[in-house]
Amino acid sequence: MNVLVILGIAFLALFWTVILIFLCTVFIGAPFVPSNSTEIEHSFTTLYKLGKKDLVVDLGSGNGVVLEHACKHGAKAYGIEINSFLIWFSRLRLRKYKDAKVVFGNIYTAKLPKETTVVYVFGDSRDIKAIVRHVEKEAKRIGHPIHIISNAFQIPGMEPVKAYRAHFLYKVG
Ligand SMILES: C[S@@+](CC[C@H](N)C(=O)[O-])C[C@H]1O[C@@H](n2cnc3c(N)ncnc32)[C@H](O)[C@@H]1O
Repeated sequence: MNVLVILGIAFLALFWTVILIFLCTVFIGAPFVPSNSTEIEHSFTTLYKLGKKDLVVDLGSGNGVVLEHACKHGAKAYGIEINSFLIWFSRLRLRKYKDAKVVFGNIYTAKLPKETTVVYVFGDSRDIKAIVRHVEKEAKRIGHPIHIISNAFQIPGMEPVKAYRAHFLYKVG
C-alpha cells in the first residue's frame, strides 16, 4: 500500500472517531454549543463579580471558553467534560493558565472541588433540574453555598437572584 492510501485511511478513521464522540454525547446530555464570549463577560461582571477568591466549575466545559474568561478574571477554573476531543482541545487552549484544570467526568455525578464558589452551566431543558439537584447536594457536602450561573435556561421552581439577557444567577446550599 502506498503512503498516501495509509494516510487517507488514518485521516478517515480519526474523522469518524471524532464525529462518533460528538454524536454519543448528544445521547448523554447537551450537545456542544459554545457560550457567547460577550455574554460570558457580562455574567462574570454584571451578574456575579468574579475575582481571585473564586473557583468556577463549568459543568460540561466544551471548548474551554468559559474557563478562559474565568482565568482572565483571576479566578481558578475547573472543567468537567465527557467529550475526550473537547477535553484535549480545551487543555491546549488553557495551557498558559496554571489554575485551570479540565477533567473527564459526568456532570450528574462528578465531585466538585471544595473551594467551588460558582458553577456555570449551559445544558438543556431536560437536564437542568438533575444538575441543580446534584450541585445542591455538593454544596451541602462541601459546607458552603454555591452560586449557579445558568445560560439559556431558568431553573424550574427557583427565583433567580439576578438575570442578564439569557443568563440567570442562583444561589444554593
Ligand atoms: C452546550 S455545551 C456548553 C459548553 C460550555 N460550557 C460553554 O458554555 O461554552 C454542553 C457541553 O456539555 C458536555 N456534556 C454533555 N453531557 C455531559 C455529561 N453528562 N457530562 C459531562 N459533560 C457533558 C457536552 O459535550 C458539551 O461540551
